[in-house]
Amino acid sequence: MTAIIRHLERRDIEAAADLQRRVYRSIPAFSRQQFESLLTIFPQGQFVAELDGQLVGISISLVILLDDYSLHHTWAYVTNNGNFDTHNMKGRTLYGAEVCVDLAYRGKGIGHHLYEARRKLSRAMNLKRIIAGGRLPGYHDYATQMAPEEYAKRVIWGDIYDPVLRFQLDEGFDYCGILHGYLPTDPESIGNAALIVWLNRAYDPTQPTRLPPADFLEESP
Ligand SMILES: CC(C)(COP(=O)(O)OP(=O)(O)OC[C@H]1O[C@@H](n2cnc3c(N)ncnc32)[C@H](O)[C@@H]1OP(=O)(O)O)[C@@H](O)C(=O)NCCC(=O)NCCS
Repeated sequence: MTAIIRHLERRDIEAAADLQRRVYRSIPAFSRQQFESLLTIFPQGQFVAELDGQLVGISISLVILLDDYSLHHTWAYVTNNGNFDTHNMKGRTLYGAEVCVDLAYRGKGIGHHLYEARRKLSRAMNLKRIIAGGRLPGYHDYATQMAPEEYAKRVIWGDIYDPVLRFQLDEGFDYCGILHGYLPTDPESIGNAALIVWLNRAYDPTQPTRLPPADFLEESP
C-alpha cells in the first residue's frame, strides 16, 4: 500500500513527536510548541506520510535567505535554536530541517515520497534549490579510522553504505562538503552532517518566491 503524503496538522503533533522519539535515541523530539510554531509560520512546508491511518514519516522545511548564513552553519543557527522564525519568504532556498521515517516502514519509498513533496513545493513556490544538512548515522563506526570528509567520499564512491547520505544522493542531491558540529546532540554522526543541495530546474529568477496553491501536492512528479 502506498503512503499518503499530506500536510501536517495540529492533530498530528503527538504522533509526530512520538515518531521522532522512536527514531532518534539522543536527539530530542520537537516540543508541541515547536510544531505549533511551524504550523503558524509555514504550514505549507510541513508534511506527514500516513499509511493505514498511522503517521509513519514527517518532513519539516523552511524557506531561508541563504545569504544570511555562512556555508558552514549549524542546525541551531539556521532554525534559530528550533524556533523556526528564520523562515523568510524573501528567500530562494527551501531548507530541510528534518525528515524521518518509522524504522518499521523504511525501504518502502516513503522517504522518496516525502522528498518528492519537497521538490513539488520548491517548484510550486518558485524556489531555486533545496539545501539540508544530512546526518551521517554510520560515521561513528569509522570515526577512529577516518575523518568525516573521507567517510562521505567513500559513501559517494560506493565503498561504505550510509542509509541517509546514500538515500539523499539517490534522490538527486549533490554533496557539498562536511558541516562540523552541525548537530552536537547526534552521537551517531559525531555531530557532523553532509551539506547537500538539489537545484530546481524550473526556477525562474525573474519571478518572486510565492506561496504554493492549495493543491500542489497533487501535481504529478
Ligand atoms: C533517510 C530516511 C528518511 C529514508 O527513508 P526511507 O523511507 O527508508 O526511504 P526510501 O524507502 O524512499 O529509500 C530508502 C532505500 O530504500 C530503497 N527503496 C525505495 N523504495 C523501495 C521499495 N519499494 N522496495 C525496496 N526498497 C526500496 C531505495 O532505493 C533506498 O535505497 P538506498 O538507501 O540504497 O538509496 C530514513 O532512513 C530515516 O528516517 N532515517 C533516520 C532519520 C534521519 O536520519 N533522517 C535524516 C535527517 S538529515
